[in-house]
Amino acid sequence: MGKKRASLPIRQLLVLRSKLVFSMFLMFCVFAFARLNWPKSGSSTNESSNEEKSKLESNPKIAFLFLARKNIPLDFMWGAFFQEANVKNFSIYVHSEPGFVFNESTSMSPFFYGCQLNDSVKVAWGGSSMIEAERLLLKVALRDPANQRFVLLSDSCLPLYEFHDIYKHLISYTKSYVESYFDFEDYRYDPIMLFAIPKDKWRKGSQWFTLIRRHAQIVADDDVVFPIIKKSCKRQSNASVSARRQMLDIHNMQDCNPDEHYLQTLLAMSGLENDFSRRSLTFTLYDQSATQNDKQWHPVTFDYADASPQSIKEIKEIEAIYYESENRTEWCQINSAPSPCYLFARKFTRGAAVRLLSEGLLGPFDPVPFLNATGRFFPVKHRETDATYRALRIRGHVHG
Ligand SMILES: *[C@@H]1O[C@H](CO)[C@@H](O)[C@H](O)[C@H]1NC(C)=O
Ligand SMILES: *[C@@H]1O[C@H](CO)[C@@H](O)[C@H](O)[C@H]1NC(C)=O
Ligand SMILES: *[C@@H]1O[C@H](CO)[C@@H](O)[C@H](O)[C@H]1NC(C)=O
Ligand SMILES: *[C@@H]1O[C@H](CO)[C@@H](O)[C@H](O)[C@H]1NC(C)=O
Ligand SMILES: *[C@@H]1O[C@H](CO)[C@@H](O)[C@H](O)[C@H]1NC(C)=O
Ligand SMILES: *[C@@H]1O[C@H](CO)[C@@H](O)[C@H](O)[C@H]1NC(C)=O
Repeated sequence: MGKKRASLPIRQLLVLRSKLVFSMFLMFCVFAFARLNWPKSGSSTNESSNEEKSKLESNPKIAFLFLARKNIPLDFMWGAFFQEANVKNFSIYVHSEPGFVFNESTSMSPFFYGCQLNDSVKVAWGGSSMIEAERLLLKVALRDPANQRFVLLSDSCLPLYEFHDIYKHLISYTKSYVESYFDFEDYRYDPIMLFAIPKDKWRKGSQWFTLIRRHAQIVADDDVVFPIIKKSCKRQSNASVSARRQMLDIHNMQDCNPDEHYLQTLLAMSGLENDFSRRSLTFTLYDQSATQNDKQWHPVTFDYADASPQSIKEIKEIEAIYYESENRTEWCQINSAPSPCYLFARKFTRGAAVRLLSEGLLGPFDPVPFLNATGRFFPVKHRETDATYRALRIRGHVHG
C-alpha cells in the first residue's frame, strides 16, 4: 500500500460472480464528500411514501421470511436476536420442505414453532420452484397488514446487528433493497422471451431482497413475468459451468438461473427502478479460486475458524458497493447519512454462529447453556479449504 494512497484513498475488495466483477470500495475518510453528492431519497415518490408513513404510525412489523431446506440451523442465533425484540414488531414465516414440522425436536428456538407455511412446495435449489416459495412467503405475510417490510433470508443467513438497529434501519428507509444490474453476459437471455420481456429490461442480481409492502404486493400479484421466467429461464443441467458453456456454444442452448433474474427483471418491467436501492442488504463473499477453470464464483461458507470478530468488522465497515458492469457505485446511506451496507450475511455454519454469539455479536450472551447443546455443531476439523483462505486473503488486501 502507500504508493497511491494519497491520491486514491480507496481500498478495494474484489468480488466476482458469474464473470461479472463487483468491486467493493471501502472508504474511510470521504464521508463529507459523499454526503454532498447523495441525492435526497424518496423525492420522486412523495405520495406513496406519505401513504406508507401513515401506515407506519400504527405498529409496523418486519416480516422475516426464511427459505429453508429443512430446519434452520442458526435458529439459536435468531432466537437470541428475536428475544430482544418486542413481539409486536416482527413476524416470522418459514418455507420449508412440505410436511416438515418445527417443534422441540427440530428447532432450538420456539420462535419458529408454527411459522411453517402449510402450503409449501418442493423446492429445487436454483430452479423456479425457489421463486414460487418466495412468492408464497410474500402472499402469506401480506395477510397481516402490520407487515411493512419483507426480508428474505436463507437458512444460513445471520443478522449482523441487534434487532433494534435492524428494525430502525428498515423502518426509517421507505424503499426496497433489490440488487439489480445489467447482465452483459446475456447468454442467459432467451430471445423467446422477447415477446414479453424486452432485452433492455433483463436484469441480474442476488435474490436476497428486502421489500416494502407495495413491492411485495407486486411480486405476489405478478402473473406476467413469473410464468415467462418459469418457462424460458432454466438451468440446463447440474454439469460444470464450462461444460454448460460448451453446450450453449455448440447447441445454442440457453442456460439460466431464474432466481438471479426474476425479481430484478419484474421490477424493471414495472418501471420501478427509481423506487429501490439496487443492492442487497445480505452480504455474500464470493470466491473463484476453487473453480478457476469454470470462472464461476461460489459463495464462501464461514466456519468456526473464519468467523472472527475481525471478519465481521470488515463486513460492517464496507461503505459502498461498486458494480463494474455498470460502472456504478452504490453508496450506503440513509437520508444522506452513512449507514451500513449490510444488515445480514451468509453463509455461516452453526460453529461460526456460536463463536460470533459468544464473542458478543448480538450483545451480551452467555454461551454456557448453549455449549452442551451445540457442542456437536462445532466442526471436528474446521474447513481450511484453499477457497476460504484465498477469499479471506482478498479481503486481507483491503486492509493492506
Ligand atoms: C415434532 O414433529 C414431528 C413430526 O410431526 C414428530 O414426529 C415429533 O414427535 C415432534 N416432536 C415433539 C417433541 O413434539
Ligand atoms: C397453518 O395452519 C395452522 C392450522 O390451521 C395455523 O394455525 C397456522 O397459522 C398456519 N400457518 C400459516 C403460516 O399460515
Ligand atoms: C416496537 O414496538 C413498540 C410498541 O409497538 C414500540 O414502542 C417500539 O418503538 C418498537 N420498536 C422497537 C425497535 O422496539
Ligand atoms: C446431476 O444430478 C443428478 C440427480 O439430480 C445426479 O444423479 C447426477 O450425478 C448429477 N450430475 C452431476 C454431474 O453432478
Ligand atoms: C466510470 O465513471 C466515472 C465517473 O462516474 C468516470 O470518470 C470513469 O471514466 C468511468 N469509467 C469507465 C470505465 O467508464
Ligand atoms: C454440560 O457438559 C459438561 C461436561 O461436558 C457436564 O459436566 C455438565 O453437567 C453438562 N451440563 C448440562 C446442563 O448438561
